[in-house]
Amino acid sequence: MIESSPAQGNNLDPWYNSYASRTAGLAASEVRALFAVASRPEVVSLAGGMPYVSALPQELVTGAMDKVMADQGPVALQYGSGQGVPALREQILEVMALEGIRGSADDVVVTTGSQHALELFSKLFIDPGDVVIAEGPSYVTAMVIFNSYQADVDHVPMDEHGLIPGALREHIARLKAAGRRIKFLYTIPTFHNPAGVTLTWERRLEILEICKSEGILVLEDNPYGLLYFGDRPPAAMRSIEEEGVVYLGTFSKTLAPGFRLGWALAPHAIREKLILANEAAVLSPSSFTQLVVSEYLSQADWRGQIDTFRGVYRERKETMLSALQEHLPELSWTNPNGGFYVWLTLPETLDSKAMLPRAVKELVAYTPGTAFYADGNGRHNIRLSFCYPTPEQIKVGIRRLANVIGGELDLLETFAGTGELSSIRMPRGAFPPSDLR
Ligand SMILES: Cc1ncc(COP(=O)(O)O)c(C=O)c1O
Repeated sequence: MIESSPAQGNNLDPWYNSYASRTAGLAASEVRALFAVASRPEVVSLAGGMPYVSALPQELVTGAMDKVMADQGPVALQYGSGQGVPALREQILEVMALEGIRGSADDVVVTTGSQHALELFSKLFIDPGDVVIAEGPSYVTAMVIFNSYQADVDHVPMDEHGLIPGALREHIARLKAAGRRIKFLYTIPTFHNPAGVTLTWERRLEILEICKSEGILVLEDNPYGLLYFGDRPPAAMRSIEEEGVVYLGTFSKTLAPGFRLGWALAPHAIREKLILANEAAVLSPSSFTQLVVSEYLSQADWRGQIDTFRGVYRERKETMLSALQEHLPELSWTNPNGGFYVWLTLPETLDSKAMLPRAVKELVAYTPGTAFYADGNGRHNIRLSFCYPTPEQIKVGIRRLANVIGGELDLLETFAGTGELSSIRMPRGAFPPSDLR
């Protein structure tokens, strides 16, 4: 038996001291254990961002699978190219055209979900100590990746119209004055995760102008753009600017995440590096799932299916907002015109992370706002997802949440009366939510 040196690690993990320093950012979230409890059937989870895949008729998928195996079995079961199946890349252009994007299939790189495109892009661009600018709040798992490449995330505030251009200018000036190297702006301009807001057209133009003049690349992450509830959102930022934007898309929300298929559309030089990085990581994305999705796109009414998803999510969002209005009228929340999320602002005396165990005990789960900031902000916020639970469950979940919040406030009031705790302050006005500033 090989003896391990005690200097190598500890009792729990003999290899503790051997990990690369970049893995320090890969700590499990503090709320992860709670989410295991929250997945029990009696808990209404308003926490996860899981699409409601049951709204996709299964026979559409099995039909595509059967056809692929009958017609192209050996190809589907074989390694493919590191860039992705050409026919699928052409079809991806049709999907992106719905958001005003024109491009060439040559510049599309298929990835294992857009999460993997985020990882590859970060690997290409981030050196330890670089700065990534992101909205505050931002997508939690993108920040995990940025952290794992040892970048510092600088959050720029948002309001109900998305990222604030003036604030972006100030942040860039401050970072540059401090000698920091800004690598890119990571943005989710449409139906933001977690804030639910959408960047206006004017701001898209202004932000692209700022980034161009400052020499900052834009990474536009757009999983939700086609899931609008009323009017179409403004066209993608990539439709305005080609050279300065890398665009990420995915089939996870408009089809199903189980396929793990996403893509990047990038200027030629970056595209070339993305292909090399993709090959280094996975050799090729799954031939089987690419061909199945390609078959689905050519045979099924995929635009109609996206309409079906829109209808499902619109109803759930409306149910959630009515329930919030009924049970928590003093609070403020965002009103998303698409996507999966509502961002709720709590009274300033409440801490969403501290309150979570009590909420789970009352059989409702949510994601505390702190998960979406790299700097500890977000204590007075909650991200509520309406994508997965049924309207009935949403009503029950919000009623339970209101009970938890009411109970916390009662407790604070009791102590406040004894001078133990400061008095309760409620944020004023529904918009703009103070937390998004
Ligand atoms: C903003 C954002 N980016 C990327 C992803 C990852 O999606 P995919 O399933 O394509 O990897 C998600 C998933 O929820 C997301 O919300």
